Amino acid sequence: MRDGYERNITYLRLSVTDLCSLRCRYCMPPKGVPKRDHGDICSVEELVEIARAAADCGVRKVRLTGGEPLVRRGILDICRGVAAIPGVEELCLTTNGLALPQLAEPLREAGVSRLNVSLDTLRPDRYAYMTRGGRLEEAFRGLEAAAAAGFTGTKLNVVLMKAFNEDEIPDFVSLARRYPIEVRFIELMPIGEGGTAQFLPAQAVPDACPELCPIEGSGVARRYRSPGGRGTVGLIEPMSHRFCARCDRIRVTADGKLKPCLHSDQEISLRGLRGEALRESVRAGAAAKPERHHMNETGRSQAGRNMHQIGG
Ligand code: GTP
Ligand code: 5AD
Ligand code: SF4
Repeated sequence: MRDGYERNITYLRLSVTDLCSLRCRYCMPPKGVPKRDHGDICSVEELVEIARAAADCGVRKVRLTGGEPLVRRGILDICRGVAAIPGVEELCLTTNGLALPQLAEPLREAGVSRLNVSLDTLRPDRYAYMTRGGRLEEAFRGLEAAAAAGFTGTKLNVVLMKAFNEDEIPDFVSLARRYPIEVRFIELMPIGEGGTAQFLPAQAVPDACPELCPIEGSGVARRYRSPGGRGTVGLIEPMSHRFCARCDRIRVTADGKLKPCLHSDQEISLRGLRGEALRESVRAGAAAKPERHHMNETGRSQAGRNMHQIGG
Protein backbone atom coordinates (compact mmCIF):
# COMPACT_ATOMS: atom_id res chain seq x y z
CA MET A 1 0.00 0.00 0.00
CA ARG A 2 1.69 3.21 -1.21
CA ASP A 3 0.99 6.70 0.06
CA GLY A 4 1.17 9.91 -2.00
CA TYR A 5 4.94 10.25 -1.39
CA GLU A 6 5.98 6.77 -2.58
CA ARG A 7 6.23 5.44 0.97
CA ASN A 8 5.24 1.80 1.46
CA ILE A 9 2.82 1.44 4.38
CA THR A 10 3.38 -1.89 6.12
CA TYR A 11 2.94 -1.09 9.83
CA LEU A 12 -0.30 -0.56 11.78
CA ARG A 13 -0.30 0.88 15.31
CA LEU A 14 -3.62 -0.14 16.79
CA SER A 15 -4.68 1.49 20.05
CA VAL A 16 -6.95 -0.79 22.09
CA THR A 17 -7.81 1.61 24.95
CA ASP A 18 -7.14 5.19 26.04
CA LEU A 19 -7.03 4.16 29.72
CA CYS A 20 -3.83 3.53 31.63
CA SER A 21 -2.67 2.20 34.98
CA LEU A 22 -0.30 5.19 35.32
CA ARG A 23 -0.60 8.93 34.73
CA CYS A 24 2.78 10.04 33.37
CA ARG A 25 3.05 13.80 33.59
CA TYR A 26 3.87 14.35 29.91
CA CYS A 27 1.10 12.07 28.71
CA MET A 28 -1.98 12.09 30.92
CA PRO A 29 -3.96 14.97 32.42
CA PRO A 30 -3.52 15.14 36.25
CA LYS A 31 -7.00 13.84 36.94
CA GLY A 32 -6.63 10.90 34.57
CA VAL A 33 -9.26 10.29 31.91
CA PRO A 34 -12.94 9.56 32.39
CA LYS A 35 -13.95 6.05 31.40
CA ARG A 36 -15.88 6.25 28.16
CA ASP A 37 -19.12 4.55 27.30
CA HIS A 38 -18.57 0.98 26.25
CA GLY A 39 -19.96 1.66 22.79
CA ASP A 40 -17.49 4.50 22.07
CA ILE A 41 -14.59 2.07 21.96
CA CYS A 42 -14.15 -0.60 19.28
CA SER A 43 -15.07 -4.13 20.31
CA VAL A 44 -12.55 -6.98 20.16
CA GLU A 45 -14.16 -8.13 16.90
CA GLU A 46 -14.01 -4.65 15.33
CA LEU A 47 -10.32 -4.26 16.22
CA VAL A 48 -9.46 -7.65 14.71
CA GLU A 49 -11.50 -6.79 11.60
CA ILE A 50 -9.59 -3.51 11.19
CA ALA A 51 -6.26 -5.34 11.50
CA ARG A 52 -7.47 -7.90 8.94
CA ALA A 53 -8.42 -5.17 6.46
CA ALA A 54 -5.03 -3.49 6.97
CA ALA A 55 -3.26 -6.81 6.37
CA ASP A 56 -5.30 -7.30 3.18
CA CYS A 57 -3.98 -3.89 2.09
CA GLY A 58 -0.34 -4.82 2.73
CA VAL A 59 0.30 -4.28 6.45
CA ARG A 60 2.78 -6.88 7.77
CA LYS A 61 3.45 -5.61 11.30
CA VAL A 62 0.84 -4.72 13.92
CA ARG A 63 1.65 -3.05 17.22
CA LEU A 64 -0.97 -2.88 19.96
CA THR A 65 -0.79 0.35 21.96
CA GLY A 66 -2.93 2.34 24.39
CA GLY A 67 -3.09 4.14 26.79
CA GLU A 68 -1.92 0.92 28.34
CA PRO A 69 -2.97 -2.04 26.18
CA LEU A 70 -2.77 -4.54 29.04
CA VAL A 71 -5.65 -2.89 30.96
CA ARG A 72 -7.99 -3.55 28.02
CA ARG A 73 -10.54 -6.28 28.75
CA GLY A 74 -10.16 -8.99 26.12
CA ILE A 75 -6.54 -8.11 25.32
CA LEU A 76 -5.61 -11.79 24.94
CA ASP A 77 -8.52 -12.34 22.52
CA ILE A 78 -7.35 -9.32 20.51
CA CYS A 79 -3.81 -10.75 20.39
CA ARG A 80 -5.01 -14.21 19.35
CA GLY A 81 -7.28 -12.72 16.70
CA VAL A 82 -4.62 -10.44 15.19
CA ALA A 83 -1.83 -13.06 15.37
CA ALA A 84 -3.99 -15.47 13.33
CA ILE A 85 -4.51 -13.04 10.43
CA PRO A 86 -2.76 -14.20 7.25
CA GLY A 87 -0.14 -11.63 6.29
CA VAL A 88 0.56 -10.39 9.84
CA GLU A 89 4.20 -11.41 10.29
CA GLU A 90 4.88 -9.58 13.53
CA LEU A 91 2.57 -8.71 16.43
CA CYS A 92 4.18 -6.31 18.91
CA LEU A 93 2.95 -4.47 21.97
CA THR A 94 4.08 -1.30 23.77
CA THR A 95 3.39 -1.39 27.51
CA ASN A 96 4.35 0.18 30.83
CA GLY A 97 5.10 -3.37 31.97
CA LEU A 98 3.13 -3.31 35.20
CA ALA A 99 0.81 -6.17 34.23
CA LEU A 100 3.52 -8.38 32.74
CA PRO A 101 3.99 -10.56 35.85
CA GLN A 102 0.46 -11.88 35.22
CA LEU A 103 0.31 -11.49 31.45
CA ALA A 104 3.76 -12.12 29.91
CA GLU A 105 3.22 -15.87 29.47
CA PRO A 106 -0.36 -15.69 28.21
CA LEU A 107 0.67 -12.94 25.77
CA ARG A 108 3.37 -15.16 24.32
CA GLU A 109 0.92 -18.02 24.04
CA ALA A 110 -1.52 -15.63 22.34
CA GLY A 111 1.04 -14.94 19.60
CA VAL A 112 2.75 -11.68 20.64
CA SER A 113 6.24 -11.69 19.13
CA ARG A 114 7.93 -8.72 20.84
CA LEU A 115 7.45 -6.13 23.60
CA ASN A 116 8.53 -2.51 24.07
CA VAL A 117 8.42 -1.36 27.69
CA SER A 118 8.26 2.30 28.71
CA LEU A 119 10.52 3.24 31.62
CA ASP A 120 11.83 6.78 32.01
CA THR A 121 13.91 6.48 35.17
CA LEU A 122 15.75 3.88 37.26
CA ARG A 123 15.14 5.74 40.55
CA PRO A 124 12.06 4.76 42.62
CA ASP A 125 11.34 8.32 43.84
CA ARG A 126 11.53 9.77 40.33
CA TYR A 127 9.37 6.98 38.93
CA ALA A 128 6.69 7.66 41.55
CA TYR A 129 6.85 11.38 40.71
CA MET A 130 6.72 11.07 36.90
CA THR A 131 4.02 8.39 36.83
CA ARG A 132 2.06 10.05 39.66
CA GLY A 133 2.29 7.14 42.06
CA GLY A 134 3.77 4.17 40.16
CA ARG A 135 6.15 1.73 41.87
CA LEU A 136 9.41 1.14 40.04
CA GLU A 137 9.89 -2.37 41.42
CA GLU A 138 6.64 -3.42 39.72
CA ALA A 139 7.99 -2.26 36.35
CA PHE A 140 11.23 -4.19 37.01
CA ARG A 141 9.20 -7.29 37.90
CA GLY A 142 7.39 -6.88 34.60
CA LEU A 143 10.67 -6.81 32.68
CA GLU A 144 11.86 -9.93 34.48
CA ALA A 145 8.57 -11.68 33.73
CA ALA A 146 8.93 -10.85 30.03
CA ALA A 147 12.38 -12.41 29.92
CA ALA A 148 11.20 -15.44 31.93
CA ALA A 149 8.32 -15.96 29.49
CA GLY A 150 10.86 -16.16 26.65
CA PHE A 151 10.44 -12.73 25.06
CA THR A 152 13.57 -11.58 23.24
CA GLY A 153 14.34 -8.34 21.41
CA THR A 154 12.59 -6.35 24.15
CA LYS A 155 13.13 -2.59 23.88
CA LEU A 156 13.08 -0.11 26.73
CA ASN A 157 11.57 3.30 25.81
CA VAL A 158 13.06 6.21 27.77
CA VAL A 159 11.61 9.67 27.12
CA LEU A 160 14.50 12.10 27.64
CA MET A 161 13.70 15.06 29.87
CA LYS A 162 15.98 17.87 30.96
CA ALA A 163 16.32 18.16 34.75
CA PHE A 164 14.53 14.83 35.16
CA ASN A 165 16.52 11.92 33.76
CA GLU A 166 19.41 13.63 31.93
CA ASP A 167 21.81 12.50 34.65
CA GLU A 168 20.68 8.88 34.22
CA ILE A 169 21.85 8.54 30.61
CA PRO A 170 25.01 6.61 31.62
CA ASP A 171 22.95 4.28 33.87
CA PHE A 172 20.59 3.42 31.00
CA VAL A 173 23.51 2.96 28.59
CA SER A 174 25.07 0.64 31.15
CA LEU A 175 21.85 -1.43 31.22
CA ALA A 176 22.18 -1.93 27.46
CA ARG A 177 25.74 -3.12 28.03
CA ARG A 178 24.76 -5.66 30.67
CA TYR A 179 21.50 -7.01 29.23
CA PRO A 180 20.52 -8.11 25.71
CA ILE A 181 17.96 -5.32 25.28
CA GLU A 182 17.71 -2.15 23.22
CA VAL A 183 17.45 1.00 25.31
CA ARG A 184 15.84 3.72 23.17
CA PHE A 185 16.01 7.36 24.14
CA ILE A 186 13.03 9.30 22.76
CA GLU A 187 12.87 13.04 22.29
CA LEU A 188 9.97 14.62 24.14
CA MET A 189 7.35 15.74 21.64
CA PRO A 190 5.12 18.81 22.20
CA ILE A 191 1.91 16.82 22.10
CA GLY A 192 -0.83 16.57 24.71
CA GLU A 193 0.70 17.31 28.11
CA GLY A 194 4.24 17.20 26.67
CA GLY A 195 5.83 20.67 26.55
CA THR A 196 9.05 22.11 25.20
CA ALA A 197 10.65 23.33 28.46
CA GLN A 198 12.07 19.89 29.28
CA PHE A 199 13.13 19.05 25.73
CA LEU A 200 16.58 17.52 25.44
CA PRO A 201 18.08 16.60 22.06
CA ALA A 202 18.90 12.90 21.88
CA GLN A 203 22.40 13.82 20.75
CA ALA A 204 22.97 14.31 24.51
CA VAL A 205 23.28 10.49 24.73
CA PRO A 206 26.37 9.96 22.52
CA ASP A 207 27.73 13.22 23.94
CA ALA A 208 27.49 11.79 27.49
CA CYS A 209 28.78 8.34 26.46
CA PRO A 210 31.48 8.85 23.81
CA GLU A 211 32.36 5.14 23.90
CA LEU A 212 29.17 4.37 21.94
CA CYS A 213 29.86 3.18 18.37
CA PRO A 214 27.29 3.85 15.63
CA ILE A 215 25.72 0.73 14.08
CA GLU A 216 23.00 0.30 11.46
CA GLY A 217 19.72 2.06 12.27
CA SER A 218 16.38 0.31 12.64
CA GLY A 219 12.90 1.67 11.95
CA VAL A 220 12.73 5.22 13.24
CA ALA A 221 15.86 4.83 15.43
CA ARG A 222 19.56 5.69 14.99
CA ARG A 223 21.52 3.02 16.86
CA TYR A 224 24.75 2.49 18.80
CA ARG A 225 26.54 -0.28 20.67
CA SER A 226 28.99 -0.10 23.57
CA PRO A 227 32.19 -2.04 22.95
CA GLY A 228 31.54 -5.56 24.27
CA GLY A 229 27.95 -4.70 25.19
CA ARG A 230 25.19 -7.34 25.00
CA GLY A 231 22.47 -4.90 23.97
CA THR A 232 22.14 -1.74 21.88
CA VAL A 233 21.22 1.92 22.31
CA GLY A 234 18.72 3.65 20.03
CA LEU A 235 17.80 7.30 19.53
CA ILE A 236 14.33 8.32 18.33
CA GLU A 237 14.57 11.95 17.30
CA PRO A 238 11.30 13.22 15.86
CA MET A 239 12.37 16.79 16.65
CA SER A 240 16.08 16.84 15.68
CA HIS A 241 16.23 14.32 12.83
CA ARG A 242 12.87 14.09 11.22
CA PHE A 243 12.37 10.56 9.95
CA CYS A 244 9.06 11.29 8.18
CA ALA A 245 10.54 10.47 4.76
CA ARG A 246 10.94 6.86 5.94
CA CYS A 247 7.58 6.66 7.73
CA ASP A 248 5.86 3.32 7.03
CA ARG A 249 2.94 3.47 9.48
CA ILE A 250 -0.69 4.32 9.99
CA ARG A 251 -2.51 4.49 13.30
CA VAL A 252 -5.99 3.58 14.44
CA THR A 253 -7.37 4.92 17.73
CA ALA A 254 -9.43 2.85 20.16
CA ASP A 255 -12.55 4.68 18.98
CA GLY A 256 -11.91 3.52 15.43
CA LYS A 257 -10.40 6.60 13.76
CA LEU A 258 -7.58 6.07 11.30
CA LYS A 259 -4.86 8.70 11.73
CA PRO A 260 -2.63 8.94 8.66
CA CYS A 261 -0.02 10.78 10.77
CA LEU A 262 0.57 10.97 14.53
CA HIS A 263 0.86 14.75 14.29
CA SER A 264 -2.03 15.61 12.00
CA ASP A 265 -5.64 16.13 13.10
CA GLN A 266 -6.92 14.38 10.00
CA GLU A 267 -8.98 11.32 10.97
CA ILE A 268 -10.98 8.81 8.96
CA SER A 269 -13.71 6.94 10.80
CA LEU A 270 -13.66 3.19 10.31
CA ARG A 271 -16.60 2.37 12.58
CA GLY A 272 -19.45 0.45 11.07
CA LEU A 273 -17.46 -0.46 7.95
CA ARG A 274 -16.77 -4.02 6.84
CA GLY A 275 -15.26 -5.89 3.89
CA GLU A 276 -14.34 -3.84 0.82
CA ALA A 277 -15.69 -0.58 2.32
CA LEU A 278 -13.33 -1.00 5.28
CA ARG A 279 -10.36 -1.82 3.03
CA GLU A 280 -11.19 1.18 0.86
CA SER A 281 -11.09 3.51 3.89
CA VAL A 282 -7.79 2.01 5.08
CA ARG A 283 -6.29 2.65 1.63
CA ALA A 284 -7.72 6.19 1.63
CA GLY A 285 -6.11 6.77 5.03
CA ALA A 286 -2.69 5.65 3.81
CA ALA A 287 -3.06 7.77 0.67
CA ALA A 288 -3.83 10.82 2.83
CA LYS A 289 -0.54 10.68 4.75
CA PRO A 290 1.03 14.14 4.86
CA GLU A 291 4.66 14.44 3.80
CA ARG A 292 5.86 15.32 7.31
CA HIS A 293 4.99 16.90 10.64
CA HIS A 294 5.36 20.62 11.36
CA MET A 295 6.25 20.60 15.06
CA ASN A 296 9.54 22.36 14.47
CA GLU A 297 7.82 25.29 12.75
CA THR A 298 4.72 25.56 14.96
CA GLY A 299 6.22 24.37 18.28
CA ARG A 300 3.24 22.12 18.81
CA SER A 301 1.81 18.88 17.43
CA GLN A 302 -1.37 19.29 15.39
CA ALA A 303 -2.56 15.84 16.51
CA GLY A 304 -5.72 17.20 18.15
CA ARG A 305 -5.55 14.45 20.78
CA ASN A 306 -3.42 13.51 23.75
CA MET A 307 -0.78 10.80 23.39
CA HIS A 308 -2.75 8.32 25.51
CA GLN A 309 -5.58 8.57 22.96
CA ILE A 310 -3.31 7.72 20.04
CA GLY A 311 -0.71 5.33 21.45
CA GLY A 312 2.43 7.08 20.22
P1 GTP B 1 9.74 -0.97 16.99
O1 GTP B 1 8.77 -1.82 16.27
O2 GTP B 1 10.38 -1.75 18.12
O3 GTP B 1 10.72 -0.27 16.14
O4 GTP B 1 8.86 0.11 17.79
P2 GTP B 1 8.34 1.56 17.48
O5 GTP B 1 9.42 2.54 17.72
O6 GTP B 1 7.67 1.59 16.18
O7 GTP B 1 7.20 1.71 18.61
P3 GTP B 1 7.09 2.30 20.08
O8 GTP B 1 5.66 2.15 20.47
O9 GTP B 1 8.08 1.67 20.98
O10 GTP B 1 7.39 3.84 19.88
C1 GTP B 1 8.52 4.47 20.37
C2 GTP B 1 8.40 5.97 20.33
O11 GTP B 1 8.48 6.44 19.02
C3 GTP B 1 7.11 6.55 20.90
O12 GTP B 1 7.40 7.68 21.67
C4 GTP B 1 6.36 6.95 19.71
O13 GTP B 1 5.50 8.02 19.95
C5 GTP B 1 7.47 7.36 18.78
N1 GTP B 1 7.01 7.22 17.44
C6 GTP B 1 6.63 6.07 16.86
N2 GTP B 1 6.24 6.29 15.59
C7 GTP B 1 6.40 7.62 15.36
C8 GTP B 1 6.15 8.47 14.23
O14 GTP B 1 5.69 8.04 13.17
N3 GTP B 1 6.41 9.79 14.37
C9 GTP B 1 6.89 10.28 15.51
N4 GTP B 1 7.14 11.59 15.54
N5 GTP B 1 7.15 9.52 16.59
C10 GTP B 1 6.89 8.21 16.53
N1 5AD C 1 6.94 12.62 23.64
C1 5AD C 1 7.65 11.49 23.39
N2 5AD C 1 7.24 10.25 23.74
C2 5AD C 1 6.08 10.15 24.37
N3 5AD C 1 5.42 9.07 24.84
C3 5AD C 1 4.24 9.49 25.37
N4 5AD C 1 4.13 10.83 25.29
C4 5AD C 1 5.27 11.27 24.67
C5 5AD C 1 5.74 12.56 24.27
N5 5AD C 1 5.06 13.69 24.49
C6 5AD C 1 5.95 7.70 24.75
C7 5AD C 1 5.74 6.82 25.94
C8 5AD C 1 5.84 5.44 25.33
C9 5AD C 1 5.54 5.63 23.87
C10 5AD C 1 4.41 4.83 23.33
O1 5AD C 1 5.27 7.01 23.72
O2 5AD C 1 6.70 6.97 26.93
O3 5AD C 1 7.12 4.88 25.46
FE1 SF4 D 1 0.42 5.42 30.43
FE2 SF4 D 1 2.25 5.28 28.59
FE3 SF4 D 1 0.94 7.52 28.90
FE4 SF4 D 1 2.65 6.76 30.79
S1 SF4 D 1 3.17 7.29 28.67
S2 SF4 D 1 0.56 7.53 31.14
S3 SF4 D 1 2.50 4.57 30.71
S4 SF4 D 1 0.09 5.60 28.22
